[in-house]
Amino acid sequence: MSAQIIDGKAIAKKVRDQVAQDVAELIAQGYPPPGLATVLVGDDPASEVYVGMKQRMCKKLGMESFSFRLPADATQEEVEKLVSELNADPKVNGILVQLPLPKHLDEEAVLRTINVEKDIDGFHPLNIGRLAQKGREPLFVPCTPDGVMVLLEESGVKFEGAEAVVLGRSNIVGMPAALLLVKRNATVTICHSRTKNLPEVCRRADILIAAVGRVEMVKANWVKPGAAVIDVGTHRVDDPTKEKGYYLTGDVAFDEVKEVAGWISPSPGGVGPMTIAMLMRNTLRAAKIAHGLVEV
Ligand code: GUN
Repeated sequence: MSAQIIDGKAIAKKVRDQVAQDVAELIAQGYPPPGLATVLVGDDPASEVYVGMKQRMCKKLGMESFSFRLPADATQEEVEKLVSELNADPKVNGILVQLPLPKHLDEEAVLRTINVEKDIDGFHPLNIGRLAQKGREPLFVPCTPDGVMVLLEESGVKFEGAEAVVLGRSNIVGMPAALLLVKRNATVTICHSRTKNLPEVCRRADILIAAVGRVEMVKANWVKPGAAVIDVGTHRVDDPTKEKGYYLTGDVAFDEVKEVAGWISPSPGGVGPMTIAMLMRNTLRAAKIAHGLVEV
């Protein structure tokens, strides 16, 4: 039997539509539009594309976006000074420092400089620390793993007591995804490059999150029949037979895994659109926090 395909585009649209509606209501109540500031250090082409998409989506949903760029050789002091100015600017509700930063910069020190109430990426050590602790809640949750959870929830996947396996332990996806699954009472295993018997461990999963960064690594015999499989990877693979000269794929061998899984999110068209939708939701939340409309 073929898996239910989780439609990330449709679920992301639902999240965005709700954000647009809430933004319109906020403005109708006399508040200024929520504002997102993006900080891009250097000229990595992929980061430029991502930041541009985030800015355009803000405008589409009725929010403001402010774009800041620093050269690749910017100093730690220059980056932190910019973040401090954005912390002090009331028009800016959310601050997004696009990662990765150039190697010479201390990423954690930059993220720590962001006011926690403007940390719409949820990467501030205080927010990550709270995510890791029982009975504590972060002000914001990182966007990609948050989007993964919404995809599962909207598909009716049960977390309580489920065996969840997260492939990958990155700060941006794998680790926070594992922490979110624990908060929802799943039993979580985190796999990484030193994990032994990877296919066997993955086969135990009722929920399998692939965030490993390897082209189509997860095969059909890695998946328990009926499992929910979420593909966080996006890869561009050269292919001269395609019109564009490449095709996009994920960490999961979609065509074979869909014959075994109960649910599967494709890549592209799964997690990707969710990341931006959750960022928009977090920016709206930051504006509500700034206006004292939600308790934190
Ligand atoms: N780089 C890759 N994903 C992300 C993200 O979600 N936020 C930021 N700031 N940088 C990223």
